[in-house]
Amino acid sequence: MIIALNNKCNLTREEFLKYQEKLENMKELPPMILCPTNLYLGEFRLSNMKLGAQNVSSKGCGAYTGEVSASQLKSIGVAYCIVGHSERREYQKETDQEINEKIKQLLKEGIFPILCVGETKEERERNLTTKKITEELEEATKDLTDQEKQQIIIAYEPIWAIGTGIIPTNDEIKEIMTTIKEVFPNNKVLYGGSANESNIDQLKEITEIDGYLLGGLSLKPENLKIFLEKLKN
Ligand code: 13P
Repeated sequence: MIIALNNKCNLTREEFLKYQEKLENMKELPPMILCPTNLYLGEFRLSNMKLGAQNVSSKGCGAYTGEVSASQLKSIGVAYCIVGHSERREYQKETDQEINEKIKQLLKEGIFPILCVGETKEERERNLTTKKITEELEEATKDLTDQEKQQIIIAYEPIWAIGTGIIPTNDEIKEIMTTIKEVFPNNKVLYGGSANESNIDQLKEITEIDGYLLGGLSLKPENLKIFLEKLKN
């Protein structure tokens, strides 16, 4: 089971250090991937976790002010990187082509991409969910070899479930997981979107889920602990 914690753009440096200390003191936590804000990647000290970034440049090193390249991430120990998160697609207008370029940069450095895909409420209502997800996956993995494709962790994150407290039904999630796995049978597929300690008993019945990408819950270590305990039992 893969558990990735997406802190998004949260916590001051002081808060992050306290947060990290809290996680370090929770000894019995399973191995997880922590994706803090880029600024704190160099502060990462957790022995039981892997380090993930939330974004990477679609270019290599060079005259790209404000960007962080895959080789720079690699040089400070980043092993995973989220790409194509719906928040970046929406607010930074990130395109499928850029996402494809980012994945190529990451793979060149041996960093595992965590590729996010998902539909809006409107797309779901118009029966376009499968089409949207299939297209996003196709575009993001364009020109990659089968071996390269297998390095990618896919995260199904319905946009309307992110931060809303609403999750799809188990049948709805199962259907998408199955669709993804038909095309990517060797990839791990995570679920993300309001997963928490109150709905994990329901979610864990979906055997197709290989792990979770957690946003809000990642910032609440006590609740996260309950979530992980329920997931285990
Ligand atoms: P929430 O868990 O806060 O809904 O966020 C999910 C997410 O976007 C993780 O990448």
